[in-house]
Amino acid sequence: MSLLIKGGRIVTAADDYVADVYVDDERISLIGEELDVSADRVIDAAGKYVLPGCVDPHTHLDMPFGGTVTIDDVESGQIAAAFGGTTCHVDFIIQPHGETFAAAFEEWRGKANGKQVIDMGYHMAVTDLEHGGTLEELATLPEQGITSYKLFMAYKGALMVDDETLFRTMEVASKTGALVMVHAENGDVIDVLVREALEAGNTEPLYHALTRPPEAEGEATNRAIQLARLAGAPLYVVHVTCGEAVEPIALAREKGWDVWGETCTQYFFTSLDDIAKPNFEGAKYVFSPPVRDSSNWDVLWNAVRTDALSVISTDHCAFRFDGQKTLGKDDFSKIPNGGPGLEDRLKMIHEFGVRAGRISLNRMVELLATNPAKLFGLYPRKGTIAVGSDADLVVFDPEKQVTISASTHHSRVDYTLYEGTKVTGAPEVVILRGHVLVDHDELVASPGVGQFVKRARFGEELRGLALRA
Ligand code: URP
Ligand code: ZN
Ligand code: ZN
Repeated sequence: MSLLIKGGRIVTAADDYVADVYVDDERISLIGEELDVSADRVIDAAGKYVLPGCVDPHTHLDMPFGGTVTIDDVESGQIAAAFGGTTCHVDFIIQPHGETFAAAFEEWRGKANGKQVIDMGYHMAVTDLEHGGTLEELATLPEQGITSYKLFMAYKGALMVDDETLFRTMEVASKTGALVMVHAENGDVIDVLVREALEAGNTEPLYHALTRPPEAEGEATNRAIQLARLAGAPLYVVHVTCGEAVEPIALAREKGWDVWGETCTQYFFTSLDDIAKPNFEGAKYVFSPPVRDSSNWDVLWNAVRTDALSVISTDHCAFRFDGQKTLGKDDFSKIPNGGPGLEDRLKMIHEFGVRAGRISLNRMVELLATNPAKLFGLYPRKGTIAVGSDADLVVFDPEKQVTISASTHHSRVDYTLYEGTKVTGAPEVVILRGHVLVDHDELVASPGVGQFVKRARFGEELRGLALRA
């Protein structure tokens, strides 16, 4: 099916101009003024922005965690993503202890079969190199399109790895061209602080934040940067929340080291005031690293503006308040860690980033689409609007007024972190490889249209188009 998007304002990380986009056979085949072509469908985009489909490099769909499983599976999570203007995401395979990476990959593909609404790739979260997964097997993953390894420096007794595992994985990455991702918090220190808090009878959600101080994030970030440097591996620090972690990343980048940082939508808008809410309401804000003092909001806006941080993801890891967050009613350490956000990222960053004058429209596209695509081996197939790229497009109405609410969103989760927030600007039509997914608030595509995407190795992004079979 061919598609002609007429007269929209095309915004990429670099450009901003009015033109028509012609899509044929799932790709963008022509861009120009007043194109003289016929198409199966014509979309009038006058007065609208035409953006690249957003890429979310950090999601957890159908993931066992904290004694339960995240509430959004591939279908519900990807539908929520599509309504939010995200057409591709990279989810985390978590290697179950004792399992090979191949078995874990197969298990995660099974969760997605027939359910995909948008395109997706995977990172491999390494949890166990002693039983099951080996360094040799890890080295084979990039050939299969899994070109990033994730390590948790926190969640002791569950996902956390020791420095030996971290460093050995980094050594493999330096040889295979994979990008190393870290959840940077000092898990040993947090474990001590959590036990001390519980022994003192402090069981409220607020203590989740108080037992995971910014220094623990700063220390682990510094450690990961130095170890990656030693191993010669490129490093990507996920969900950065505070000055203590931004500073070492900014310093490493100034030195020209291969270090990148990501923050997530929620860290610009939530604070200790939220997690301190009474009647267990604070549990909705239990994610890790935790909410911080609101003085960090400006630190993060400044970091994404200056490229100290290069990506805004969602870390969508949704648990229902009712029945899942309540597992920790009497003990904050039993509250499943994670929050929702897949559907809200573009609207929130457009409203409070672009419309508030904190970042430009081009920078928004770079943070939400282009940089994640480049860093994770998807560019220029994804993350931009160019001839030959996948026709992943968002026709965005900059005047549309929306009130964000759990009563209207598409995730299965029973709350949103932004309930009642009014924004101006929202996706109107969302397109994946030329297939219209969302049309004026209606889902018009069926599960199955999304595909698994093999990603290029780190640094091979310019050859991304060659990945196509
Ligand atoms: O609390 C969070 N962020 N849950 C998801 C797992 C992780 O640490 O990214
Ligand atoms: Zn994490
Ligand atoms: Zn995460």
